[in-house]
Order: sequence, then structure tokens, then C-alpha cells
Amino acid sequence: MPTALITGVTGQDGSYLAELLLQQEYTVVGMVRRTSTINFDRIKHIQSQIEIVQGDLLDQISLINILQEYQPQEVYNLAAQSFVPTSFTQPVLTGEFTALGVTRMLDAIRIVDPSIRFYQASSSEMFGKVREVPQTERTPFYPRSPYGVAKVYGHWITVNYRESYGIFACSGILFNHESPRRGLEFVTHKITNGVARIKLGLSQELRLGNLDARRDWGYAPDYARAMWLMLQQDRPEDYVIATGETHNVREFLEEAFSYVDLDWQEFVIQDDHFYRPAEVDLLIGDASKAGQQLGWEPTITFVELVRLMVDADIEYWERRLKQAAAISA
Ligand code: NAP
Ligand code: GDD
Repeated sequence: MPTALITGVTGQDGSYLAELLLQQEYTVVGMVRRTSTINFDRIKHIQSQIEIVQGDLLDQISLINILQEYQPQEVYNLAAQSFVPTSFTQPVLTGEFTALGVTRMLDAIRIVDPSIRFYQASSSEMFGKVREVPQTERTPFYPRSPYGVAKVYGHWITVNYRESYGIFACSGILFNHESPRRGLEFVTHKITNGVARIKLGLSQELRLGNLDARRDWGYAPDYARAMWLMLQQDRPEDYVIATGETHNVREFLEEAFSYVDLDWQEFVIQDDHFYRPAEVDLLIGDASKAGQQLGWEPTITFVELVRLMVDADIEYWERRLKQAAAISA
């Protein structure tokens, strides 16, 4: 059975990809960085089926050692500093993880086994101040954050190692994708978590930034499937993965609050703290190449996505409330 290495296995996408590869009977090796407390919430249900190995995108030798020891046929590089606002406050660290980390992994592959197939987690954030609508694999990049700039570097170094060394290296230009496992600071999960807390009487308000930004939001498990499909093709290529629909943050709010019979305008406060030094105003992707060549298409609509995230957060907070009541009884 093939072996796959996933960097960023503790993240949203890493956890879904690990589930998918286990279903396909892969041996899954998950690289995690050393932390003082264990942070395996998203993979605890499959932890016993994964080989967890310590390594860090900042440390070249750790990457070389992992490739030599586990001899994977596929490497999925999902690890990154992925939160755009943090990239403005920690731009150098973001460059180290999100840009140079890609070169460290590609160079480890070149040295240890250039036949390894490589997936790079590129991002629609690279389109930034968009040059055309919708965005395709041929749309020029104009990143608007240190994160976006770092991802452009990661994208082009992947193309460069493919062209220079013949490595089977693919870059998936993925538009925003969400799920109940999304980090709580990202706007979708911040909203659905806020809705659940307000509905259950645990909060009275939700503070947000720019409500006019438009995103092409899809469902994370669909996007993990696209990553895998890219590495099963005859030739390495880059693909846009997106739903082809765009909605602004206000529409997400309306859908999430109205689903639980609340009016978002009574609870949402716009707060300057959550505005960014430079914004990405509009993202909408054209995934027709992925549709034609990979047979990929999204399975969940925008409304279904909002509702499944609200449901998951309400269930989570109800469980927490029941546990607290049981302890105090
Ligand atoms: P995420 O939830 O933030 O997960 C990031 C992962 O990277 C975590 O497992 C984190 O480990 C790990 N990591 C960070 N720095 C590391 C380092 N120096 N060495 C090793 N591991 C490190 O991100 P995600 O949403 O799953 O996204 C996965 C990838 O796709 C990222 O590269 C992201 O930039 C990219 N992407 C995401 C989207 C999206 O909408 N989700 C869209 C386009 C591209 P800890 O658990 O220790 O923090
Ligand atoms: N996080 C956040 N918090 N965003 C807010 C808020 C808020 O309180 N209020 C408004 N927004 C707006 C942001 O200004 C942005 O325009 C939009 O909501 C989406 O923000 P995020 O959910 O943080 O995602 P992102 O689009 O910046 O980045 C995500 O998608 C990229 C793909 O395009 C991340 O997952 C990146 O890692 C990924 O590459």
C-alpha cells in the first residue's frame, strides 16, 4: 500500500485528507511540530491509525530524516502560518513557514527521492487585488498580504522544481474552504460559533470587521479530495479548486442568524480592530479545468455549508452546557 506524508496533519485540511487516505488504505504519516501541549483535537478519532512523527518546516534536517525513514510515495505540504492578519504582525515568520518551508520540503525530496509526488497548498489569496473575474489557473497574481506574497513564492518554487528537476509537483490553488473543524478565528467559524453562543444565551454580541469582502466558500472535505486527485494524474499540473459562487460576509451572517430565527443586525458590531491593512475584496474561482481533468466538483452548497457549521456549533455548546450542569449537580 502507498505511504503518504502530510505536513499540517493537525490542521483542518490535514485531518480530512488523513481520513480520505486512510479510507484508500494508505499508510499515513503525519508530521507535527513539537509543542508543550498536545494539539490533536482534529485527529484524535484517527490518531491510532496514523504514524505521528515530529518535524518542522523550519528545520531542513527533520524533513530529510522523515523522508529517508518513511519513504513516502506522496507528500502533501499543508503546513503553513495560514491566518492572514497574523501575517501582517509576523511577516518574517510567515515567510519562513509559508514560503521557504516549501523550498525546504522540495529540496528534501530532490535529495532523498525525486520520484516522490508533491502537493503544494497554494491559495486564492495569491489573486489578491484580482486582475480578472472569475480567477483561473492563468489569472496573474497580485497578493495583498505577507501571507499572500509567501504563497506566491511557494507556488512558483513548486513550478520551478517541477520544471528544473522533473519532480511530479502540483499546486492546488484552493479558494476558501470551511467546516466545523475550521480555526475559530476565521470569519465563517467565528460567525457560526457566535450564532450558537448567542442562541444559547452565552453571548450578547459578535464583533467583526469588513462585511463587504466577498469569498468563494466551499466545504473542506471536497477540497481534500481534489488534492488527492491531483497526485493521481499522469502529469503534474496546477488546478484552481472553487465553487464558482461568491458571497459577502453580510450574506453569510444573514444566512447563519436567520437559520436560528435571529436578526444579525441586533448582535453584530463592526470593530476597526478586525479590519486589515490591505483587503482582498472579491474572490470567485473558475474550477472548470479541475472539472474536466479531475472529474472534481463540489458536493455542498453555500446554504448547506452555513447550516452544517451552525448545527455543529450548537451541538458543541449544548454538550458543554450539559457537562457543566452535570458537574454542578
Ligand atoms: P490550518 O488549520 O491553519 O493548519 C495549518 C497546519 O500547519 C497546522 O497543522 C499547523 O500545526 C501546521 N504548521 C504551522 N507551522 C508549521 C511548521 N513550522 N512546521 C510544521 N507544521 C506547521 O490550515 P488549513 O485551513 O488546514 O489549511 C491547510 C493549508 O492550505 C495551509 O497551507 C493553508 O495556507 C492552505 N490553504 C487553506 C485554505 C482554506 O481556506 N482553508 C485555502 C487555500 C490554501 P499546529 O497544529 O501545530 O499549529
Ligand atoms: N478572520 C476574520 N475575522 N475575517 C473577517 C472578520 C473577522 O472578524 N470580519 C470580516 N472579515 C473578513 C476579512 O477581512 C476577509 O475579507 C474575509 O472576512 C475572510 O477572512 P478569513 O476567514 O480570515 O479568511 P481569508 O480569506 O483571509 O483567508 C483564508 O482563505 C485563504 C484562501 O483565499 C485562509 O484560510 C487562508 O489560509 C487561505 O489561503
